[in-house]
Amino acid sequence: MTEFNSKIKTIEWVDTYSKMIDQTVIPHEFKYVNITSGEEMFAAIKTMIVRGAPAIGIAGAHGVILFAQELAKKGLSREDFVAELLKKADYMATSRPTAVNLMWAVKKQKEVIRESQKDIAGIIEELKANAIKMENEDIAINKKIGDYGAEVVPKGATILTHCNAGALATVGYGTALGVVRSAFAKDNTVQVFADETRPRQQGARITTFELTMDGIPTTLITDGMCSYFMKKGMIDMVVVGADRIAANGDTANKIGTYTVAIAAKYHNIPFYIAAPLSTIDTSIASGDEIVIEERDREEVTHINGKIICAKEVNVINPGFDVTPHELITGIITEKGILRPDYKKAISDVFNIV
Ligand code: MRU
Repeated sequence: MTEFNSKIKTIEWVDTYSKMIDQTVIPHEFKYVNITSGEEMFAAIKTMIVRGAPAIGIAGAHGVILFAQELAKKGLSREDFVAELLKKADYMATSRPTAVNLMWAVKKQKEVIRESQKDIAGIIEELKANAIKMENEDIAINKKIGDYGAEVVPKGATILTHCNAGALATVGYGTALGVVRSAFAKDNTVQVFADETRPRQQGARITTFELTMDGIPTTLITDGMCSYFMKKGMIDMVVVGADRIAANGDTANKIGTYTVAIAAKYHNIPFYIAAPLSTIDTSIASGDEIVIEERDREEVTHINGKIICAKEVNVINPGFDVTPHELITGIITEKGILRPDYKKAISDVFNIV
């Protein structure tokens, strides 16, 4: 099996297609898939071959290029090509509803389409250049998040994280796990407790995979265990990623994050969000406006293809929850750590008057 290391790109544009790590088979297999059409990309995002807020943003940007390549073969006028492509871009943005990075990256591609002065082939080249720029920026931003975050990690800290906000949730390095990587580079006595993250086990399958490959000491726990270890004094801080942050700091992240935040508050443990500014949605006032993805019942009723409950039982499977801003110690971004009052800190960082 190819070894994962933090230099590997989770997703990248190659000539005419998108190359990505297939996250549905980790840790049993480590393989790449090439996505060659817009519909294939829509399905790759929906079925979580690619997942994690920043990574699906890049995937959405690639999806727009793939649709552009398909439309270019149809012999449309430039005007019709642009009109059709803008519709396809809007469609691509609906492949998952919660992570705002997807809508953000597609919007960036739509700006390229609208503002381009080039012919159809030229528009496609500009879309590719824009996607590659976003890929490179993603890694650079994550390293900045990592460095700011490392400043608040105590020496020898045990950091609890939930889900996977790592290299595999981004193009590389990670957001929450970027903080871990930067902290570990400074102090190799830092360690991680990783929540399993039911129902899709991104913590068990993906976080433990990428951290142990990088030699960072990691302990896997199930989701219900976090308060137990907090009470025992075994957790020094929590750092998680984010899928969408509202203008008041309320933060959507993987289901179970809210429970961790409540437990951290009760035990007086700092609870940090690590996310790029592209995860902040200043168009919404609070987390009440965040659309929460509902996923298939089989994610809950089955493990490894085997049913684990009564066949006809009722199931509800929200993919995310919203942590209220008052439970958050700080939001670690590429522009520094935002602190309460978040409404003011967010409007300041975006220069909103
Ligand atoms: O459903 P997923 O696996 O896409 O959810 C991912 C998470 O919730 C991550 O923690 C979040 O996207 C932050 S990624 C840097």
